[in-house]
Amino acid sequence: MDDSGTLMVKVEFMPSGRRAVVPLGSLLTDAMQEAGVLLPLDCGGNGSCGRCLSTPVGQTSDPTPSEMRLLDTSQRKEGLRLSCQTQVLGDLSVMIPEFQETADSSWPVDAGDGGGINVDSPIIRSIPCDVPRPGLDDSRSDVGRVLDGVAPQHEQHTLWADHVTAGQLSQKARCFDWHVNAFLRGSEVVGVSQQGQGPLGLALDLGSTKLAAYLVNLETGNILAARGRINPQVIMGADVVTRIQRAISDPADGQRLTRLIRDAAQALAQELVYSVGTDTGHICEMSLVGNSAMTHLLLGLPLEQLGSPPFVASTDQALDIKARELGLNLAPGAYLYIPPLIGGFVGSDNVAMIMGADLDKPGPCRLGLDIGTNTEVVLTVPGNKNHLFIASAPSGPTFEGAHLSSGMRAMGGAVSKVRIMGLDISFETIDGQKPSGICGSGIIDIIAEMLREKIINKQGHLDRSLDRTQGERQSIRYVLIPGDQTSTGKDISVTQSDISQVQLAKAAINAATNTLLAKAGLAVSDISEIILAGSFGSHIDVENARCIGLIPDIPGAIYKQVGNAAGKGAQLVLNNRTQRQRALAVPGMSSYVELTRESQFNSLFARSLAFP
Ligand code: FES
Repeated sequence: MDDSGTLMVKVEFMPSGRRAVVPLGSLLTDAMQEAGVLLPLDCGGNGSCGRCLSTPVGQTSDPTPSEMRLLDTSQRKEGLRLSCQTQVLGDLSVMIPEFQETADSSWPVDAGDGGGINVDSPIIRSIPCDVPRPGLDDSRSDVGRVLDGVAPQHEQHTLWADHVTAGQLSQKARCFDWHVNAFLRGSEVVGVSQQGQGPLGLALDLGSTKLAAYLVNLETGNILAARGRINPQVIMGADVVTRIQRAISDPADGQRLTRLIRDAAQALAQELVYSVGTDTGHICEMSLVGNSAMTHLLLGLPLEQLGSPPFVASTDQALDIKARELGLNLAPGAYLYIPPLIGGFVGSDNVAMIMGADLDKPGPCRLGLDIGTNTEVVLTVPGNKNHLFIASAPSGPTFEGAHLSSGMRAMGGAVSKVRIMGLDISFETIDGQKPSGICGSGIIDIIAEMLREKIINKQGHLDRSLDRTQGERQSIRYVLIPGDQTSTGKDISVTQSDISQVQLAKAAINAATNTLLAKAGLAVSDISEIILAGSFGSHIDVENARCIGLIPDIPGAIYKQVGNAAGKGAQLVLNNRTQRQRALAVPGMSSYVELTRESQFNSLFARSLAFP
C-alpha cells in the first residue's frame, strides 16, 4: 500500500529483470512503461494489432474479447496474453518472448561507404592551448585565461563562453592541468577536453519507426561508430498521425512523446561514445533530420495546425538550438542543428535524403523513393535549374512489418527472402535464425512469387483451391511456413488482408509518383534513374519490387539502392558550413505537392491497386 492508501503490486519482467511497482488493476503495458520495458504497441494499445505479446505468471484479469479473437488456442494454452488488455491483479513475473522486440533494444547500423564526411569548411574547430595557472600575480578568470590562450590562434578576437560552459571549464582545465583543447564554434567556446582528445559530433536520423545515429570525429570526418534503435514512440502508436492525435487530445501524452524521443537520442549518444571509450561531454555538435511531425514532437512545438488540413508546420526554418535546452547531456555549449523543412509532413529528413542521394545536383530525370511509413517521393526535372517535385505518400507501416498478420520488423528470425516453386517453398531469415515472422522485404518477395505462381491473381485474390490455403472468406490465408517449423509455434501465413495492405501501400506510392509526373508534365518513361533510399529500399529485391508494381518498371532505366541517404545528409551538414548552405537552398528548388489537395490522386490510387 502506498502513502495514499492505494494497493500496490510488484511486477518483474524477464529476461531483463526490470521491475515496477504499480497500483493493483493497472494494465501490464502501464507496468512495462514504469519499468522501462518498451514494447511496440502498433495499435496504440487498443487491442487490435495483437503484437504486444507477453506471458504473465501470477494473478491477472480474464482474457478480453480482443484476446479471444487475436490469440489462437495454442497461444492461450502457452499463457500468452496481450499486454495492453491484461490487468495486474497481484505480484507478477512476466516473460517477454524471445521473438518479441522491445523499443529499448539497439543494433549496429551501416556506417556508410567508409569514406567519412568532408569537413573542409568546419563549424567546430579544435584549438590546443597551454594556459598559465592562476597565481597571486595572475588573477584572470578561468574562462578569461583560456580565451586569452586561444585568441592568438584564432581569427576572432571577441571569444566567449556561456555560463554553463564556464562552469565545466573551471573543473576540466584544472583536471587537465591547464593543457586543454578548446572547441570553438565561431567565436564561442562550446567545450574543452584534454589535449589529444578531438571534438566529436553526432548525426541523428530520426525516423517514425527507427532511429539511426552516427558518431563522427569532427576533425577527420571519419565515422567512428553507428547504431540504430526503434523509435520508442511506437509504444504510443505505430504511425505519426496516431501520435499527433494523442498529443493533441492529451498534453500529458504529448509531453511523454517528447520525453521518449529525447531520452532515446541521449541513450544512442551514450551507447556510441561508450563503444569508442569516451563520454558524451566530447560531443560538441549534433545534427538531426526527421519529418515535420517527428521534429515538432522532439522540440515540443504546437501540433494542432500540423494535425489537420492544410497541415501547416509551426516553422520551416533551419534551427540551431543549444542541445541542453532539450535535456541532452553533451558538451556544455553543444548545439543541435536541424536543416529546414520543405512543407507539410515533408521535413528535414527529405532535405537530407535529397542531399545524400545528390538529387539536388544537375542530372537526368530521376525518381527518388525513401519507402517507410510515409514514403518520400522526389521527382527531379532537368532544365536550366534542377527542379524537384516532392510529395509524402501515406504508405503506412506495412513494409515495416506492422499491420501484417505474421509481420515483424527486420530483425533476427524475420523471413526476408522467399522462393516458391510449385509445392516447394524455400526461404531465408535474417541471421539464419528459426523463422518468427515476415519483414518488409520478405512480403515483397512473397507477393511477387505468389503472382508468378498464380497463387494470387492481379486483383490480389487468393486461389482457394490450394492445399496451403486455409480458412473462409475474410480469414482466408496461405500458410507459408507451418507452426512446427517456426520459433513461435504459430503458422507464418499471408492472409487476404495482408495482400490488401501491400496493395494499399504500393498504390499510395504509385499514385504519388504519377501525381508528381502529371504536375511536371512528364511520363513515367521520361524517368531514367530510380533511386531507392533508406534501409528498406536498400534491402528489397528490385526485380520483385518492379514485378508487384511497388516501383515503376521502366525498361532501360537505372535502379540504384543508395542506403540511408537521410542519414548521409545528416552527416553532411554536421560539421560543414558549405553543406548547410546547400541544405538551405533545397526548399527553394522544391515544389511540395500536398496529395490530399490533388483531385487526381484518388483516381490514380484506385487505378494502382491491382498488380501489374
Ligand atoms: S493489441 Fe496490444 S498494442 Fe495492439
